[in-house]
Amino acid sequence: MKKNDEIELDIIDNGINLEGIAREDNKVIFVPGAIKGEKVLVKIIKENSSYCIGKIENIIKKSKDRQEPFCSVYKRCGGCSGQHISYQRQLEIKREIVKNTLSKQKVEYKSLDNVIGMGIPLNYRNKAQYPVRKTVDGKSKIGFYAKRSHVIVENEECLIQNEEIDKLSKEIFKILLLKGFSGYDEQTGNGDIRHILIRRGYHTSEIMVVIVVNNKDIFEDVRMEEIVNILKDNDSIKTIVLNLNSSKTNEILGKDEKIIYGNGYITDYIGKYRYYISSKSFFQVNTIQAEVLYNILKEKLKLKGNEILFDLYSGVGSIGIFLSDSVKLVYGIEIENQAVEMANMNLKLNDINNAEYIAGSVEDKIVEFENRNIKPDVIVVDPPRKGLDLESIDYIIKFRPKKIGYVSCNPATFARDLKLLSQYYAVDTITPVDLFPNSEHIECVTVLNLK
Ligand SMILES: C[S@@+](CC[C@H](N)C(=O)[O-])C[C@H]1O[C@@H](n2cnc3c(N)ncnc32)[C@H](O)[C@@H]1O
Repeated sequence: MKKNDEIELDIIDNGINLEGIAREDNKVIFVPGAIKGEKVLVKIIKENSSYCIGKIENIIKKSKDRQEPFCSVYKRCGGCSGQHISYQRQLEIKREIVKNTLSKQKVEYKSLDNVIGMGIPLNYRNKAQYPVRKTVDGKSKIGFYAKRSHVIVENEECLIQNEEIDKLSKEIFKILLLKGFSGYDEQTGNGDIRHILIRRGYHTSEIMVVIVVNNKDIFEDVRMEEIVNILKDNDSIKTIVLNLNSSKTNEILGKDEKIIYGNGYITDYIGKYRYYISSKSFFQVNTIQAEVLYNILKEKLKLKGNEILFDLYSGVGSIGIFLSDSVKLVYGIEIENQAVEMANMNLKLNDINNAEYIAGSVEDKIVEFENRNIKPDVIVVDPPRKGLDLESIDYIIKFRPKKIGYVSCNPATFARDLKLLSQYYAVDTITPVDLFPNSEHIECVTVLNLK
């Protein structure tokens, strides 16, 4: 098999990016857009010693689970990867992905639930980050990155975003252009605006606008005042923040910020708790499913009310605060200073007196609790995609909490960490929750009990 060959393939599985998988000549062929059970004619577009990538030329036998994508730019846009698959089947595939990942790591666990999906898996995102770029013809564009590139794909409407966020981002883009600002040029590093980021409280409708600029002079530019005057007519917009990012990285937000309208944060609810959220603090993008997830965690932990709980990788304190009335004390650690500031404000906002959040990395700060002779009965971890580092795992094991609640957005690192922890802990039922319908991502939650 070599590049440009055309070949008929039976799709035997779907992989971690929802891509179809076939086998031929002892090689794995990844076929984006194909579904298990289909027969497809593909053109080999990449070939190396261990795998090939095939592009669908024709679907010879269609899966009953194939559906028409609802977005006109689906094939080009890098945002979604599952729109061609019925939602029910997406959920089944995601369960398979979790199951296969756990089995690769030989993790022993009680059972794996079906994925908890959404009723209507659309318009669920409460946060959008639109790149603004200058193209070769000098025009500025807003959209999403194409698959595996930084080419901008424009779209009329994005159906996984909240409708108001989607509309507003394009309005703000137009206003910025009218005022003479330009999109960022990745090649030269010139241009003014890199991203428009919008967050909206699902339950409160409060909106935060973050305009990521390439040059600090824009912080003082009088045109930004004019833009504030236009935008503040929209009652839902509670705050507008300028963020400076002049680095040549893929990071969206830079370090410096200037709040040009409002307080720099908005609020939203998860369950009965209200949370302040700022530009740089993590908050689950799917508020409805976040509540489902936290409730499942709470149920699984079977808290008695007398526990000391560590909320590690705590963001704005979402999980610890959610569990605060079911335990005696909560101690949280979070690396992003702004999020810790929000977490401490959130304690006051919710009248919570049994929790404390500290800033720093889990690996550096967890020792502080040991030095203060604070011993957890329960540790909840909700790390970023890279999962737990060995130092933190060592500490967790050393603390020997009776229970560990693990919330994960990456099945691969989840399985790796469960394997390490299962030396001392028995992994209970794992529940995947779909926080990201129509994409390949999946969230998992489980509890580990001390053996
Ligand atoms: C998946 S989020 C979870 C946040 C929170 N538990 C929630 O449910 O909203 C992971 C959080 O870990 C933080 N983080 C990343 N690396 C960290 C580290 N080494 N130590 C502490 N926090 C870290 C991130 O800033 C982010 O807020």
